[in-house]
Amino acid sequence: CGIVGYAGHRSALDVVVEGLRRLEYRGYDSAGVAVVADGALASVKRAGKLVNLEKALEEQPLPTSGTGLGHTRWATHGSPTDRNAHPHLDESGQVAVIHNGIIENFARLRAELEEAGVRFTSETDTEVVAHLLAAEVAAGSELVEAMRAVCRRLDGAFTLLAVHADAPERVVAARRNSPLVVGLGEGENFLASDVSAFIAHTREALEIGEGQVVEITPDDVTLTDFYGAVVEEKRYHVDWDASAAEKDGYDYFMLKEIAEQPKAVANTLLGRVGNDGLLSLDEMRLSDDELREVDKVVVVACGTAYHAGMVAKYAIEHWTRLPCEVELASEFRYRDPVVDRQTLVIAISQSGETMDTLMALRYAREQGARVLAICNTNGATIPRESDAVLYTHAGPEVAVASTKAFLTQMIACFLVGLYLGQVRGTKWGDEIRSVVRDLSDLPAKVDVVLETMEPVRELARNLASATSVLFLGRHVGYPVALEGALKLKELAYMHAEGFAAGELKHGPIALVEENVPIIVVVPSPKGRSVLHDKIVSNIQEVRARGARTIVVAEEGDEDVVPYADHLIRVPECPVLLQPVVSTVPLQVFACEMASARGFDVDQPRNLAKSVTVE
Ligand code: G6P
Repeated sequence: CGIVGYAGHRSALDVVVEGLRRLEYRGYDSAGVAVVADGALASVKRAGKLVNLEKALEEQPLPTSGTGLGHTRWATHGSPTDRNAHPHLDESGQVAVIHNGIIENFARLRAELEEAGVRFTSETDTEVVAHLLAAEVAAGSELVEAMRAVCRRLDGAFTLLAVHADAPERVVAARRNSPLVVGLGEGENFLASDVSAFIAHTREALEIGEGQVVEITPDDVTLTDFYGAVVEEKRYHVDWDASAAEKDGYDYFMLKEIAEQPKAVANTLLGRVGNDGLLSLDEMRLSDDELREVDKVVVVACGTAYHAGMVAKYAIEHWTRLPCEVELASEFRYRDPVVDRQTLVIAISQSGETMDTLMALRYAREQGARVLAICNTNGATIPRESDAVLYTHAGPEVAVASTKAFLTQMIACFLVGLYLGQVRGTKWGDEIRSVVRDLSDLPAKVDVVLETMEPVRELARNLASATSVLFLGRHVGYPVALEGALKLKELAYMHAEGFAAGELKHGPIALVEENVPIIVVVPSPKGRSVLHDKIVSNIQEVRARGARTIVVAEEGDEDVVPYADHLIRVPECPVLLQPVVSTVPLQVFACEMASARGFDVDQPRNLAKSVTVE
């Protein structure tokens, strides 16, 4: 969900609505705003997209004000209706509150308030906060004190923002386990769930830590803990280019981000290779001694990042001879996993805010493990709470479906795997240099793939009425198959499944019927030719049963030609690195399929870019 607050010399409504638009990519199903003017609050909220809210604001204009807040909501408690949209007001209409996260003890608080005669107008957990704040203010507290007192009573994860009719020029916010940043301007200050909401106005930002309350006015920012003790400010400069948050002539952010992949991959590699051709990752903050102590690697991540972790497993085990497990972050801590201080846990997250991943890393640290974050968002919670971090430097990813973040996560994992090998002496000298050279060839190879995508788009348009698409892969091609299927589900709302090609005969082959499209990711014919030959047999098996085969194979691989109804060529690549090129056609396929089916590629239904609830 998106959160924006503003206190300053501009129209708060304009700043807030523009900020919400920039946060649209986070996914939402209703939106609302509130401003403070002339000793009163005015608020409008609507189910659906921002256009609905904007239409309502035209019909019912709000008074001009420099103080306001706005929210886009992704429903957790209560369906996405006008009534459940944020802001939530208290009974007297003096306090307006917006909230991300889940207040776990809301039922108890609500019962207590209802007993005291408070009437609720929504089904949300958020509304309790409006009533509690109003009661504290009525009892004589300043809004900011009221916020601290209320936060001390709340269980769960939240970001809260509030304004009060009697407190013009003030927006108060609190954070526990949910993202919140302050933007520092001249005669104006901003609050937001991430910096893209305000980078058009300022690049100076302030981190808000766990358990902190902040009050902004046009000229001041005050930061304390939940008990009022002043907290030291941590400022940082946002070096993202503001244009990175624009579509730059592309129809969708996703198309722009797919096109940016060669540059993104190059940026992940930048500055990480020394003059001697070896890796230097001192920035990671893990000493060579610590890395030498590691006896096991565990990767935790969700969604697309999890698929990057699956690819990492193949590379890390091969290069380091360390056992490497990959686990969905949401499963990890519930199964009593074996981790200790010799375990290196790698938490992969584009946003750095995914709650499942955050909880997994906290659990791992409690068990004594060292945690390394692979993240794309500077200063986000996951890197902050990790022992070490390697940023992917892909630039902001706006489309909900992850593309350039995925490619760069794989690159970052390769760097970590190679570096572990380098430090531990399992890979050294020319071997490392040669893989590093292969890595630095990847941006140009991804470029080649992007230039040859028209037939893939045409194929997607032709298949737009298919009811199901299957994906097959082996070895590192297996996570690519899973990622191809995930993209199609996310964007085209189509039944899509990825399978390990060898597993096909143990069940999934029953799904194969006349004309079902099956996309097969074929590994390089070189090096591991057994693997290659096996998958060529798998292609024949499904084709014999009527499937329409779409084969992603390397340039020069002639073995697949007789069995491919459609052939998608990718440049030659060392086996382990192939996912970086072979994923790209599957991204393009899913994106085109979704637009051919008439769906909004950047904002698929029900999905959020950053899922900050468990
Ligand atoms: C959400 C997004 C996915 C993403 C996953 C992990 O579910 O819709 O696209 O892969 O979160 O996100 P992260 O920011 O942790 O990489």
